[in-house]
Amino acid sequence: MVRPSIFKTFIILVVLATQNSISLATTKGNDYTRDACSVTRYPSLCVHSLSPFSGSAKRSPHRWARAALSVTLDKAEAIGRYVKRFNRTANLKGRVRYALSDCVECFQNTVDQLHSSLGELERLNRKSFTSQVGNVQTWVSAALTYEDTCLDGLRGCRGARVRTLKVKVDNMMKFTSNALALVNRLASAGE
Ligand SMILES: *[C@@H]1O[C@H](CO)[C@@H](O)[C@H](O)[C@H]1NC(C)=O
Repeated sequence: MVRPSIFKTFIILVVLATQNSISLATTKGNDYTRDACSVTRYPSLCVHSLSPFSGSAKRSPHRWARAALSVTLDKAEAIGRYVKRFNRTANLKGRVRYALSDCVECFQNTVDQLHSSLGELERLNRKSFTSQVGNVQTWVSAALTYEDTCLDGLRGCRGARVRTLKVKVDNMMKFTSNALALVNRLASAGE
């Protein structure tokens, strides 16, 4: 008679405990992400794109910088492919033609810079920490400059596809800016 109710209570307790620890873990994960993203210029974009890394990155400035760079690199590669396809469209005229060809080159450079940056962070070691992180700061800044150059070239170009591309590049710059902020945080945290 008594047994089933004790068993029931036990089940309820287990369920409550499990729910509690799940929500606690999520809150903690969000805290890690929000804390890391607090140094960025676009924190909500940062939280949205980097929250999947909270469990592994926790409070490590190194891991957050790597996460941000890898997300930014993926994004740059995707836009690079998009721009390349767009540039191959027949009948592009005058200004748009030159602007797009420039953007293709800019994105090749952006991808290169971000790729080197990620590689440098993966090889990061204590002895050369300062110069390595310095390199990454330089390269990510360069990537941002290339993106800006592409956007600048598109100024005055018209059309729906150009508008779409501008939005993509503008968004890309926000990702890159956030990644740079997280690299800067790594630089000031030291190793
Ligand atoms: C853009 O497309 C044009 C026309 O196909 C091509 O000649 C040019 O090389 C392309 N630009 C780049 C940077 O690939």
